Amino acid sequence: MAFAAFKPMACFSSLSSSNANPLPSSLFRPLKFPSFWPRQKVKMGPLSVSPMGFGTWAWGNQFLWGYQESMDNELQQIFNMALENGINLFDTADSYGTGRLNGQSEKLLGKFIRQFKGQNGGQGDIVIATKFAAYPWRLTPKQFVNACRASLERMQIEQIGIGQLHWSTANYAPLQELALWDGLVAMYEQGLVRAVGVSNYGPKQLLKIYDYLKERGVPLCSAQVQFSLLSMGEDQLEIKNVCDSLGIRLIAYSPLGLGMLTGKYSPSKLPTGPRGLLFRQILPGLEPLLSSLRDIATKRRKTMAQVAINWCICKGTIPIPGVKSIKQAEENLGAVGWRLSSNELLQLEYAAQESPQRMIQNIFQTK
Ligand SMILES: NC(=O)c1ccc[n+]([C@@H]2O[C@H](COP(=O)([O-])OP(=O)(O)OC[C@H]3O[C@@H](n4cnc5c(N)ncnc54)[C@H](OP(=O)(O)O)[C@@H]3O)[C@@H](O)[C@H]2O)c1
Repeated sequence: MAFAAFKPMACFSSLSSSNANPLPSSLFRPLKFPSFWPRQKVKMGPLSVSPMGFGTWAWGNQFLWGYQESMDNELQQIFNMALENGINLFDTADSYGTGRLNGQSEKLLGKFIRQFKGQNGGQGDIVIATKFAAYPWRLTPKQFVNACRASLERMQIEQIGIGQLHWSTANYAPLQELALWDGLVAMYEQGLVRAVGVSNYGPKQLLKIYDYLKERGVPLCSAQVQFSLLSMGEDQLEIKNVCDSLGIRLIAYSPLGLGMLTGKYSPSKLPTGPRGLLFRQILPGLEPLLSSLRDIATKRRKTMAQVAINWCICKGTIPIPGVKSIKQAEENLGAVGWRLSSNELLQLEYAAQESPQRMIQNIFQTK
């Protein structure tokens, strides 16, 4: 059925990209966060995770990301390199992988975990954060528990680090939403997941699920939303504030704006496939932001990708950039262990405000 093919477009499918969102004034306030060093960990509920994780949406996705099975060796090296450099958080989903490769991202992660031999022969403290899709046929808590068991089976692991709801159905199927929540409770109670999180939940829905889970004795540890210099409006600020007030970690997805903030694409140099169509609309309005990123990167002897990811860390989030090659992984590892100054943060945020285009919101994002 067409649903599998439409999943990868989830990020793009909304029709309106919100232009010239006024930047909330509080985003300009210099924030004081401690510096993170590559091997330092931060608390996320009961877990200790690196200040940046790696996203694996591309691992198995041919349609949007051009994945080929011939990339697997390189992906395994990326996985090993990440762990050897202190990165222990990997984000995936049971819907990642297109067509016959459905579930490929989880399968690859499972295989890489089994084959990884750390310094003392062990696998260390790897945290897999997977997401369970709210497919219309998953209507009962038991079906979500079964989805969780299927993910464990694909990865051949005994327990998932963070079991996340991929999106909320509150806007179009409120009854299914309760089944999702109860499913999360059941997974946690049965010890299938160490912690639970949500994704694409807005501040109102986040508060509701937090209270519901709390009453059932289940702590919510993370909320994942699109968060980058290309998507930093009132919504992101509000959700960050709610997360802070509840003691929940905000995981920043698409921190590189699907690659647009790396500086390697331009209106005359677009990626192939559906991303090209999106970038064609957004890139022409991005010059102020891209030149500010370039300027800071040059002065700092960093790359634009490193600066864009570091901005997310400085905002108190845990970014999970997607990586497809060793070169990208090496570069992105250089985004931790230092921090942008308050002036540089301001410069980037003003430049983002001056850039008339924003990233398109995920259609599943709720209020
Ligand atoms: N919860 C959700 O609904 C949701 C939605 C989206 C993503 N996510 C998660 O967030 C993760 C990250 O987001 P994303 O993958 O959408 O976008 P992203 O991190 O903004 O961009 C990743 C892409 O940028 C390019 N890239 C990465 N590092 C680079 C570097 N150093 N230099 C040049 N190019 C580089 C690569 O693509 P090319 O080489 O092809 O340009 C890579 O696949 C995903 O993998 C997934 O785990 C979650």
